[in-house]
Amino acid sequence: MTQTTAVTRIRRPVRLYPGPGGAGVLATAEIRGVDALPYTMPDVDADVIDNTEAPWNSFSPQDYWRHNYQDLHAEDREIISRVSHFLISAFADRAPARRAIDVGSGTNLYPALLMLPWAERILLADYVESNVDWLRAEIANDGGPWAWHPFWRELRAEKGYCEVARPRERLREACASEPEYAGIERWSIFDLPEGRWDLGTMFFVAESITQKPKEFLAALEHFVGALQPDAPFAAAFMAGSAGYEVAGTAFPAVPITRDDVERHLTELGVREPTVELLETKPGVRDGYTGMIVATGFASNRGS
Ligand SMILES: C[S@@+](CC[C@H](N)C(=O)[O-])C[C@H]1O[C@@H](n2cnc3c(N)ncnc32)[C@H](O)[C@@H]1O
Repeated sequence: MTQTTAVTRIRRPVRLYPGPGGAGVLATAEIRGVDALPYTMPDVDADVIDNTEAPWNSFSPQDYWRHNYQDLHAEDREIISRVSHFLISAFADRAPARRAIDVGSGTNLYPALLMLPWAERILLADYVESNVDWLRAEIANDGGPWAWHPFWRELRAEKGYCEVARPRERLREACASEPEYAGIERWSIFDLPEGRWDLGTMFFVAESITQKPKEFLAALEHFVGALQPDAPFAAAFMAGSAGYEVAGTAFPAVPITRDDVERHLTELGVREPTVELLETKPGVRDGYTGMIVATGFASNRGS
């Protein structure tokens, strides 16, 4: 995800006050530093907003897609390369996943495309109704040019991916409804059942749905916890994000670091965690310091 409009680097949003029509009004405060999250401490700043307080009813899928995914950005190209190589290696000696999940899909289909050769069925899960509606329409749409072709072009020569002859149709089949296991459904990350999916992705969600460090950590825990023991996963994060705007409405973020992600994945018992900052410089927009990609295998609970 790239940020949609400039949010200055030295100030961060602290609270969204509901305005006319539910749109949020952004207030700002100085950033206190993003070195390490006080993750062992309670959220001392009572003036930060949590996940349920953000103005999700005003989230514009069209605007978010236009700013972030109408064109393929260099950062997404690097993420696609890193994650596809991880998945090719993860599935070299294991059967395809029966069911995969992409958490907080928004209007981004490339995480699902990354999982396509490695999963029989996929659940696209998002908390926001407008995003779920957008996803259903996008997956059902089988006419005209395919907006995701530039993303698939990055993958189609790679091992496994080259065997998917018609990715647009295959994605539709993979996302056919199997209630609560596969399809396109409204879920909060915090309500996901434990240990259900055997492959997972989560791009720009845990740190981009709240201003509360503890909620970021809980979201990451719920994502990993929703996977079966030893399931491969990939996740992407904005580093040092000051929040983002979609169609003029401000949305919250926690300004995390690479070390925050690595530390928490280790605490969660993830096997072979790899957490890296992208080499690609932050894109054309302001408001974050880089992107983080994490891969690994879900905790083997009980071992
Ligand atoms: C910054 S967007 C990322 C969207 C997409 N994954 C991407 O790569 O661009 C954050 C997404 O999280 C979703 N979201 C917000 N709260 C959520 C929750 N509690 N559970 C699941 N998804 C949530 C939003 O609807 C939005 O689609």
